[in-house]
Amino acid sequence: MSDFSVFGDEGALLVLTSKEWHDLHASDYDASYEGKKWVEIYDRITWEKTIEPYLSRGKNMSILDAGGGTGKWTIPMARLGYHVTLADISEKMLEMAKEKLARENLLNRVSIVPADVTNMDMFRDESFGFVLCEGDPLSYCTNPHQGIRELVRVAKKGSFIVASVDNLYPRVLWSIRQGSLDQATELLRNHWTVREFPMYFFKPSELVQEFEQSGCTVEKLVGKNIFSAGRGDLLEDPKIFRQTLRLELGYCADPYLMGLAGHIAIVCRKKDE
Ligand SMILES: C[S@@+](CC[C@H](N)C(=O)[O-])C[C@H]1O[C@@H](n2cnc3c(N)ncnc32)[C@H](O)[C@@H]1O
Repeated sequence: MSDFSVFGDEGALLVLTSKEWHDLHASDYDASYEGKKWVEIYDRITWEKTIEPYLSRGKNMSILDAGGGTGKWTIPMARLGYHVTLADISEKMLEMAKEKLARENLLNRVSIVPADVTNMDMFRDESFGFVLCEGDPLSYCTNPHQGIRELVRVAKKGSFIVASVDNLYPRVLWSIRQGSLDQATELLRNHWTVREFPMYFFKPSELVQEFEQSGCTVEKLVGKNIFSAGRGDLLEDPKIFRQTLRLELGYCADPYLMGLAGHIAIVCRKKDE
């Protein structure tokens, strides 16, 4: 993390922290994803394959949505009647969430807590019956390995933990296609790169290993998106969209395809003993 050197035209250091970037962009964050067909596919996979099946039937399960941002997943879970703790490092993202929750009269079911996923001291060990960390907070934090340990620490024994991250291999391929073999080699070596802010890219096998070493058994990996990456405008065609969605939902958990997915989600369970 220390050897980043990104300079603008004036030679000024341009790197923002992830918190600074999200604070800056919070007010237009939701709009930036609206109407995008690949996002519609990503969201269907997220809800149908990694969230809804892992919510308990009884509503007394307490849920942590870590890095929950403007409440995209907190809101549907609260609508279903669960109590959700929405935690995020960006207070501005949380402010946007609060406005949305107020509009839906859901504030009584949600605790909003500013928190860094790498240090969630405000939550005791084994506090939550379901822990979600969706949309790359682990890739955006300063210490993804510590973030994983924290997610597992606050989960109750036997409960499900779901986290999605940026996948290393498509990013490496992208660098190679841009003609930058040096960058690709460096990425494979240290997994960090700087886009809007520093980001950590996981190998699928590394994600599995780290959750296992932190005391979990892994149920599955889920790839998002595999077939629709880079399809852009083609997905606007309703027939192509339907076919692609069917493919994505059908093959997203095939372990042999995991290296191709832009994002990988892990669904795992904290061991009981
Ligand atoms: C791409 S957004 C996803 C938000 C939400 N989970 C969703 O799916 O819409 C990533 C979120 O991670 C948050 N984040 C980044 N670094 C974090 C950290 N160290 N601890 C907690 N949240 C963090 C950002 O503020 C942002 O809200």
